[in-house]
Amino acid sequence: MDQPNTVNSVRLLYFSGTGGTKRIADVFEKELKSRGLDVLIKNLGESLQEQKDTPADQGNRVMDLNILLYPVYAFDAPRPVYEWIESVTGQEAGEKIAVLSVSGGGEMWPNTGCRSDCCKALEDRGFRIVYDRMLCMPTNVLIEYSDHLAMRLINVIPERVSRIVDQLLAGKVHRTRFGKGFVSRRVSELERENAYQFAQRFEIADECTGCGWCELNCPTRNIELPETASKPRFKDRCVICMRCIYGCPAGAIRVRGKFVLKNGYDLDAVEQRMKDVKLEPVEKCCKGLLYKGVKNYLLDKD
Ligand SMILES: Cc1cc2nc3c(=O)[nH]c(=O)nc-3n(C[C@H](O)[C@H](O)[C@H](O)COP(=O)(O)O)c2cc1C
Ligand code: SF4
Ligand code: SF4
Repeated sequence: MDQPNTVNSVRLLYFSGTGGTKRIADVFEKELKSRGLDVLIKNLGESLQEQKDTPADQGNRVMDLNILLYPVYAFDAPRPVYEWIESVTGQEAGEKIAVLSVSGGGEMWPNTGCRSDCCKALEDRGFRIVYDRMLCMPTNVLIEYSDHLAMRLINVIPERVSRIVDQLLAGKVHRTRFGKGFVSRRVSELERENAYQFAQRFEIADECTGCGWCELNCPTRNIELPETASKPRFKDRCVICMRCIYGCPAGAIRVRGKFVLKNGYDLDAVEQRMKDVKLEPVEKCCKGLLYKGVKNYLLDKD
């Protein structure tokens, strides 16, 4: 049931590995501010570079509403989201929250349980979940999306964000009750057990210039480049966010297997390439079962 609602202030929390979710968070920030709301931003994976670039911690004021955005990792939320939930104390924990997952595959099995554990953890902390929904961005592992599809997903962000903000401000309650099946639970567990060590498998090619970009930009500060070393070292706090792999200016971080996209993941470059290109219809860029969730999302049938 919808609830009477007065929202004057919003805490926007997000984690983003390769920038897809951050793009959506940026549009939320702009939209909320354009409606005169007091917005507090919390980046749940703040790299050393982001710490330098952003204003000092904006504190933990009591807010009328939280909006949490995260990319789906192995049918679940990334670990930094759970670390934040565990760290919450005091009044913050009693606040209202909207949980928005951002996936490459959309609201399709086995993705459908990707908010259930996170929502439960939030409720256990005392949060009141008023809204949860899936959004889509191009996937950054395993499947290379066409530029047409990537561009369609980028273009639809403002309209979707504006609609969600309308609904949140009107007090609309939107809850999905998808549980987690055996398969997705097992995959999530495997990811959690192995992610921390993932970076131990990286091979650093001779192209590495020792520039330090990876050390400055890792959201879990898992990378160090000691003055005495010419190549980075990886600790055991990796969350497989892919940022260092796609972002290394020399393309020097390599991983065996088919997990990493051959052509990288750069949404700014997609926008450049597609600037004056007429986009293919949704049906043409979303052919096959693999794209059914994204197709439903783009056609507003999810
Ligand atoms: C480790 C990992 C696991 C992922 N697992 C899923 C998944 O289970 N389902 C899905 O649809 N997309 C999955 N993805 C794709 C991301 O959810 C998607 O690309 C997201 O938009 C990336 O957001 P970001 O750019 O903010 O990091 C996964 C990506 C990574 C890196
Ligand atoms: S791996 Fe890449 S980003 Fe890291 S120091 Fe080497 S060249 Fe720079
Ligand atoms: S080591 Fe690389 S993949 Fe792992 S969390 Fe840091 S930036 Fe992400």
